[in-house]
Amino acid sequence: MDDVTDKVFREIIAQIAKPDVMFTEFTSAEALSSEGREKIAHKLSYTENQRHVVAQIWGADPESFKKAAMYIKEQGLDGIDINLGCPEKSIMKRGSGAASINNKELVEKLIDAVREGAPKLPLSIKTRLDKTQDLTKEWISFLLSKNINALTLHARTARDLSKVPANWEEIGKAVELRNKLNPEVTIIGNGDVRSYEEIIEKHKVYGVDGVMIGRGILHNPWLFEKGAVSQSHGTKEYMELLIKHTKLFNDTWGKTKSFEVMKKFFKVYIKDFRGANELRQQLMGTKSYEEFCEVINNRALR
Ligand SMILES: Cc1cc2nc3c(=O)[nH]c(=O)nc-3n(C[C@H](O)[C@H](O)[C@H](O)COP(=O)(O)O)c2cc1C
Repeated sequence: MDDVTDKVFREIIAQIAKPDVMFTEFTSAEALSSEGREKIAHKLSYTENQRHVVAQIWGADPESFKKAAMYIKEQGLDGIDINLGCPEKSIMKRGSGAASINNKELVEKLIDAVREGAPKLPLSIKTRLDKTQDLTKEWISFLLSKNINALTLHARTARDLSKVPANWEEIGKAVELRNKLNPEVTIIGNGDVRSYEEIIEKHKVYGVDGVMIGRGILHNPWLFEKGAVSQSHGTKEYMELLIKHTKLFNDTWGKTKSFEVMKKFFKVYIKDFRGANELRQQLMGTKSYEEFCEVINNRALR
């Protein structure tokens, strides 16, 4: 997730309750294959502890995809994911993300280009539903006919954004298509899953091989803790995690990333206790790591 699943947040999650696979923020294939690559290459940085880490790329230029794939392979990431689902206007305007849904000619070229650049790396596609059920069937069938290892389906259309409930019935249909057309492809369902129990339920009910979690991790950073019943984590643990995350953010990015990006996470950790709103507001008013520490230390002294 853009500005969320950076190296630092992935590390925090890897240390407390690690999923099988983590995906980088989406990264422009064109930028990755350009001379100015260093400006965005940090999006693909990772630690050994985070494996398996898959690099997600977006774009619409096959030559850039090939070069980006070569770079990703050199960097030692575990796989490449092509974003064919982002509904942001700035991305779609360039014919990328969700704008490439059912653009078979282009998508075939993008897949071939990645295969050429990194023949042995696992390749997955992340996409959404098309406008109608028939078009979705056609789109998923097309993707399943290609040389891909996994397919993640976010069960909403681009127009839905994230405003309507995810349509898991359509994910179930994609699993059936996979069983018929290409049993080798792993199907990952995505949309509205908020707990480990729900992951298991989606596997049982819809037959998916895996579930991708987006916003759920922001509701419960311990979501991937394995167990039949979610464990609860108290305020002390949440506060400790906030402090650890913010320190790691500062140590890793220093002045290269705005502190505003870190502030987006405050609501993840500061919630459900008396005085949470007041503390959160105070921290939202800080402009640097130093100011953050001052507020936290003053609170500890009280
Ligand atoms: C802040 C934010 C950033 C996102 N960035 C990306 C991205 O870079 N690549 C991507 O494939 N999906 C991205 N998504 C979409 C999620 O991966 C996911 O498909 C969507 O949120 C639905 O899943 P959920 O209900 O589990 O959140 C983003 C979502 C959010 C909320």
